[in-house]
Amino acid sequence: MNPTRPISAPTPSKLSLRGVGKSFRGRGREIRALEDVTLEVSEGEFVCLLGPSGCGKSTLLNIVAGLEKADEGQVLCDGEPVLNPGRDRMMMFQESALFPWLDVLENVLFSLRLKPGMKAAERREVAEFHLRLVGLEKFSRAFVHELSGGMKQRVALARALAPNPRVLLMDEPFAALDALTREQLYGDLQRIWRDRRKTILFVTHNVREAVCLGDRVVLLSPHPGRIKREFHIGLPRPREINSVELALQATEIMGELKAGPGARTEERRVA
Ligand SMILES: Nc1ncnc2c1ncn2[C@@H]1O[C@H](COP(=O)(O)OP(=O)(O)OP(=O)(O)O)[C@@H](O)[C@H]1O
Ligand SMILES: [Mg+2]
Repeated sequence: MNPTRPISAPTPSKLSLRGVGKSFRGRGREIRALEDVTLEVSEGEFVCLLGPSGCGKSTLLNIVAGLEKADEGQVLCDGEPVLNPGRDRMMMFQESALFPWLDVLENVLFSLRLKPGMKAAERREVAEFHLRLVGLEKFSRAFVHELSGGMKQRVALARALAPNPRVLLMDEPFAALDALTREQLYGDLQRIWRDRRKTILFVTHNVREAVCLGDRVVLLSPHPGRIKREFHIGLPRPREINSVELALQATEIMGELKAGPGARTEERRVA
């Protein structure tokens, strides 16, 4: 375990990652994807995991989602060990992963299909509410192939939010979108996060995106993936991706990112 602990969270942790390690074995060699990752995420916090390609961001998110098992350490959600995937931790990917044979409303309804104690009318109400939240109420009967990339990700966001998960896990959800669409989604996601008070763990390799969205940016270094440093982002919200203040913070984090691998875990307060 790391001798230095990450900063203590101000409120009880929604998510606790304790000494998480993971290796992959293949073709006679072992890839050490993650080592001793310890992180506390408090209720309602927006945490961005930032790091270069291959540093283990997706592996870490998959472990929190219960899609992968850690070799060492454990993940707790509301104090309970994460053993499997569950609707309490909904995931959103770079590709929307929508069902092309279902329309928009049906795609959102799908994530509510096993919600216990919910009648059909109530499920529909909840699905429509979340489509309004992402601004797609007029497209509820459209099919996936009729939507732009940004609209697909909005549907995926509505689908992830509809079961009211305790934690939203997002793996580079906007990476495939054009800059203008991404900018709109940054605004929308900040608004939704503020209104719905969700706990979000958001993976990106885009420094500006991390500074725009996160309360905290957690920098991972590769081979093996470890937490290198944490930055608290105190900029007022909603944040504008092209603002000078944001660019200044992004430059500082970029400098650390370029400084190469390291294993320092310390708190750094910016702004
Ligand atoms: N199923 C797997 N089998 C073997 N190796 C894997 C597997 N999944 C991930 N890895 C390896 O683990 C390391 C971390 O991969 P991961 O996909 O988590 O990185 P990442 O930070 O998400 O990268 P990117 O930014 O490119 O998405 C990489 O070296 C990768 O090759
Ligand atoms: Mg990845």
